Amino acid sequence: MLEAFAQPLSASTRYCAVFGHPIRHSASPALQNAGLAALGLDWRYLAFEVHPDNLREAIRGAQVMKFIGVNLTVPHKLLAMDMVDLLDESAQTWGAVNTIRFEARAKDGIWRPLRYFAETVPSEIRAHGFNTDAVGLGRALREDLGMELAGAKVVLLGAGGAGRVAALKLAAEKVSQLFLVNRTLPKAESLRDEIHQRFPEVKAAVGYPGQAVDLVVNATSLGLKPEDTSPLDESQFSLRQARAVYDMIYRPAETPLLRAAKGAGCRVANGVGMLLYQGTEALEIWTGRTAPVEVMRKALLNNIYGT
Ligand SMILES: NC(=O)c1ccc[n+]([C@@H]2O[C@H](COP(=O)([O-])OP(=O)(O)OC[C@H]3O[C@@H](n4cnc5c(N)ncnc54)[C@H](OP(=O)(O)O)[C@@H]3O)[C@@H](O)[C@H]2O)c1
Repeated sequence: MLEAFAQPLSASTRYCAVFGHPIRHSASPALQNAGLAALGLDWRYLAFEVHPDNLREAIRGAQVMKFIGVNLTVPHKLLAMDMVDLLDESAQTWGAVNTIRFEARAKDGIWRPLRYFAETVPSEIRAHGFNTDAVGLGRALREDLGMELAGAKVVLLGAGGAGRVAALKLAAEKVSQLFLVNRTLPKAESLRDEIHQRFPEVKAAVGYPGQAVDLVVNATSLGLKPEDTSPLDESQFSLRQARAVYDMIYRPAETPLLRAAKGAGCRVANGVGMLLYQGTEALEIWTGRTAPVEVMRKALLNNIYGT
């Protein structure tokens, strides 16, 4: 609908894109094109299926074709750490790249995002890597659950890519205690050790807590499939001991974990907010403008849930 307000494609149209494998179900084009149209930009956001073996060439291709930037999704976020020319502090801190901004060296020698060059883009271009997932999670926990993270006690389920970023972000937000639970124990143990090293003031432990907590976060992929059970072992920890539950999964809208949490009287939210805010942050990195959050939220909900 909003697309109707976008300017027609022309030889001046600029491009952003998302690379993933698979990519077919990505909601990012709907999210970002709504934002670009609302900002009145003659830009488009595309989605490409890129095999990890071809990621370096795909990034280079976008660079030489003077794309404004790209997003990276599963399984590219770690691989891209070695494929960009420089890493923003966000990518260094969280150890993954989900947003690249292309920048060109202007006549005065200063590197500027490609949005600055309306006519001729200088030929010397670099790829600058960022991470917006952690910001997205922090904002979603605050806005969707009203969470005050500093001093909170948190159970984190999952120690994969998203689990690691979540654990580090929660520690950086100065949660007081972090209980790490993962099917593959050594991954939770190595995350605990990393937190002890980088955030010594945060008490991180592996396993369920023997006390009430403020928040449970699901960063496992359990709940994506209809036959999946809850990732939380209720024989070890009762949801009645949690004030709020955040599930990073957004499709389906209500996972078995969220259903059970609602039944136990917890405040709940699914992962759509995290997806929205990582996207609004990326748009701001590319455009230098405030993202039209409500327009983008509407487009995202419409794309995912048809609402
Ligand atoms: N809302 C958002 O914006 C957003 C952003 C990123 C990710 N996510 C969601 O977060 C979830 C994890 O993504 P990821 O990138 O971290 O994936 P990943 O790196 O593949 O990690 C998957 C995690 O799920 C666990 N897991 C998988 N199958 C399991 C099972 N049958 N039983 C118990 N644990 C199981 C894994 O445990 P092992 O270590 O034992 O394999 C691991 O902790 C996905 O559902 C993804 O959609 C959402």
